[in-house]
Amino acid sequence: MSKKLTFLILSGPTKEYIDPVRYISNESSGKMGLALAGYAVKKGYKVIFISGGVKKYPKRVELVKVTTALEMLKASKFNLQRADIIISVAAVADYRPAKFQKHKIKKSGNSILLKLKKNPDIVKYCGENKSDQVVVGFALETQNLLTNAKLKLKSKKLDLIVANGRDSFGYDKTTVHLMSSDSIIKIENRSKKFIAGKIIDETVRIFENIKSFKKNA
Ligand code: CTP
Repeated sequence: MSKKLTFLILSGPTKEYIDPVRYISNESSGKMGLALAGYAVKKGYKVIFISGGVKKYPKRVELVKVTTALEMLKASKFNLQRADIIISVAAVADYRPAKFQKHKIKKSGNSILLKLKKNPDIVKYCGENKSDQVVVGFALETQNLLTNAKLKLKSKKLDLIVANGRDSFGYDKTTVHLMSSDSIIKIENRSKKFIAGKIIDETVRIFENIKSFKKNA
């Protein structure tokens, strides 16, 4: 019997604190992450689940709770080599405040400037540092969906990218394209649970292909 596969799933939004009571974040519900973990666990795979701030967490996973993008990167680096398949559906904030203010910023003039600093690209780090692993990202696009998703697939060295439009945020049903370097599978208006199942099955198929290619090389 083959070894039990381990998934590393990054999910949920990150929060980037400006001061002790204010932060930058986004609307990610973490539903797709939950659905991915749920299906993978049901299939008998091991799941390490790194999650930004959401209200619900999956059951029967190794849970790592994080807040910021930097914490998510650290946890991902720590767990990367333990996983066979890495999926990032996390809505990582692209920027964080350049400086965290230790005390609540007091109201003063009519406007204030907030300087932001770029966060590291976590799934890109995984793509660039993978061995015989499968790395999967999501692409959220409001225009040129397939072209932009393809660019992300290449630049982040991913094996698969799930391209979706803005309508995926918070809703249960959505339309996605699963894109690899040589194929596109469109899944139209299906539940996140259904789509999650297709993604997990597709990543296992890619993983098995890589393994048998290596064996026969
Ligand atoms: N991602 C990441 N680290 C970041 C930003 C994004 O790991 N700092 C991952 C997401 O989890 C997703 C993929 O990269 O799997 C694409 O995220 P997306 O928000 O669509 O794109 P960005 O790379 O942030 O680019 P842009 O915002 O310019 O579209």
